[in-house]
Amino acid sequence: MTPHGATVHVPAPAVLMERRELTGDTSLIRIAPDPSATGWLSSYIPGQFIQLSVPGAGEIPVSLADMPRQNGIIELCIRRVGHVTDRLKALVPGNRLGVRGPFGVGFPVQRMKGSPVLLLAGGLGIAPLRSLLYYLVRNREEYGEITLLYGAKEIRSMLFRDELAELALRRKLRLYLTVDFAPQGPTGDVECAVGLLPDLLKGFRFEANRTYAAVCGPPAVYRCLASELEEAGVAPERILLSLERRMCCGIGRCCHCAVGQLLCCTDGPVFPLSVLRQIPEAL
Ligand SMILES: Cc1cc2nc3c(=O)[nH]c(=O)nc-3n(C[C@H](O)[C@H](O)[C@H](O)COP(=O)(O)OP(=O)(O)OC[C@H]3O[C@@H](n4cnc5c(N)ncnc54)[C@H](O)[C@@H]3O)c2cc1C
Ligand code: FES
Repeated sequence: MTPHGATVHVPAPAVLMERRELTGDTSLIRIAPDPSATGWLSSYIPGQFIQLSVPGAGEIPVSLADMPRQNGIIELCIRRVGHVTDRLKALVPGNRLGVRGPFGVGFPVQRMKGSPVLLLAGGLGIAPLRSLLYYLVRNREEYGEITLLYGAKEIRSMLFRDELAELALRRKLRLYLTVDFAPQGPTGDVECAVGLLPDLLKGFRFEANRTYAAVCGPPAVYRCLASELEEAGVAPERILLSLERRMCCGIGRCCHCAVGQLLCCTDGPVFPLSVLRQIPEAL
């Protein structure tokens, strides 16, 4: 129990510091949790999530979009889809929020050391993978080559395009982008293919037997990406998929997030393909 009574059950108070609109329905927000929460946040592993409460609206699971700052400030990339995220959109800097977490099993960053890492992000899946990407970039010498394949519907819905391009320019990562369609022809100043993410992966050459693949995106592409990766030679234990399920408690009590006999909130949200393969309907 902390000075504010915050526990895994009770949110720690937090303040909305800043909001940046990324697209018509998606914003990047910075929040400052009360120092009573920053002890937990310092243990954050990319791929884990927090439960964010919006007063008067409810609580939602959200991934961190970057590693927490030293001063405890965290960044979240949030798409407006319904009740809670709508209410969140109406908040302004200075408004109060609540934070529980971090929860769940993230990417096995210790085990991944020494290996090349291939990140595959579809749509909003770039948000959780951005925290892994920055973790890898900040610990660059401990990992092999870092590559990001990122697909979005169209160029204007592609998130973080400029900062990703800048990282690629500084040779921190190899970056390959694709959009489902480009009605206006050329895709602007960043080189970008036109096609689906699995198509981009099909033509991609990499050291498959040593690579860890981290995948996050719409459920529809998971099966396709997983079989492309396996066909290329990536072992199922090294194909790591971040699943999204409806959540309630976030701590393994309510069973809202069941994936077969497993729970997405405590056994995941990051699972190796070797585990998910045993569970019918997991993907
Ligand atoms: C581990 C995890 C990490 C997440 N990270 C992010 C993130 O970084 N950024 C972000 O914007 N969103 C993220 N989400 C999704 C986010 O939790 C939902 O968008 C949010 O709960 C919707 O709440 P709402 O009240 O606004 O929408 P609601 O009114 O509850 O629902 C609106 C629509 O969204 C669908 N929906 C609601 N919750 C989910 C869910 N968990 N999975 C799939 N569909 C859902 C509903 O079926 C409905 O169609 C994450 C979810 C999980 C489980
Ligand atoms: S959200 Fe309650 S058990 Fe997973």
